[in-house]
Amino acid sequence: MVMIHSFVFSPSGTSRKVADIFIEAMDMDSKTHDLTVHGIGSIDIKDANDIVVFVAPVYAGRVPALATERFQAVNGHGQKAIAIAVYGNRDYDDALVEMCDIISARGFNLIAAGAFIAQHCIFPKVATARPDASDEKKLVRFASLVRERIISGMPLDLDIVKGNRPYKKTTGVPLHPQANQKKCNSCRICAAQCPTGAIDAADPRKTDANKCIACCRCINVCPQDARSFGGLLYKVAGWKFCKDNSRRLEPEWFV
Ligand SMILES: Cc1cc2nc3c(=O)[nH]c(=O)nc-3n(C[C@H](O)[C@H](O)[C@H](O)COP(=O)(O)O)c2cc1C
Repeated sequence: MVMIHSFVFSPSGTSRKVADIFIEAMDMDSKTHDLTVHGIGSIDIKDANDIVVFVAPVYAGRVPALATERFQAVNGHGQKAIAIAVYGNRDYDDALVEMCDIISARGFNLIAAGAFIAQHCIFPKVATARPDASDEKKLVRFASLVRERIISGMPLDLDIVKGNRPYKKTTGVPLHPQANQKKCNSCRICAAQCPTGAIDAADPRKTDANKCIACCRCINVCPQDARSFGGLLYKVAGWKFCKDNSRRLEPEWFV
């Protein structure tokens, strides 16, 4: 039985949403491996006909370092693969070429790569509620092109994928979600779900700024709605970011 495996890193859930729409449109038996909270031990994709898709968000124009680390546990033997980068309507810069390189280095043969837009997790006024119905249609179209590629077996020409090598330098984000002291009831879901273990399990109101990658997982999983960005820097950066990135970008793919 041919299977499509998806390997997904998705702290705020939109890459997972894009992955799920794509997988459903592929109309094949599937298995999702969500690598957001924990990595997996080494995994070997053995069946020569299996297909793999790697899906991750774009951070500062690159693949998040933690996603790279977790994707490196997956090993292939020439199976066909698809790279999907999900970004918040600013730009995906070098993230898609970087993803293609990561996947090739794991032993897979790329047949397609796509960049899709989703609501910006740090500044949710940008690309609000995306992926939307129009994005969904485009994902379905992308999946039909991928299916054609699976049949033809044509590899992806990596030179047509948008992005540069060497990749742009990564930069961290000097913003970290904080807990609202009144709303937080110390349920510790945020600590259990934080991909980097940045939230103190003994006192979830404390975040280690050195470990926090601003991925917004804690904001998205908090049942009390107790975690958020705040402060003057966030306000000012948000105002400028929204002003500069409010035009609508559309998905792009390379097959
Ligand atoms: C630290 C960080 C850096 C980001 N950098 C970019 C970027 O360079 N370009 C962009 O368009 N969006 C950027 N985003 C937005 C995310 O790519 C976008 O919100 C994505 O949908 C998040 O995926 P997820 O919901 O699967 O976590 C960044 C988000 C974070 C947390």
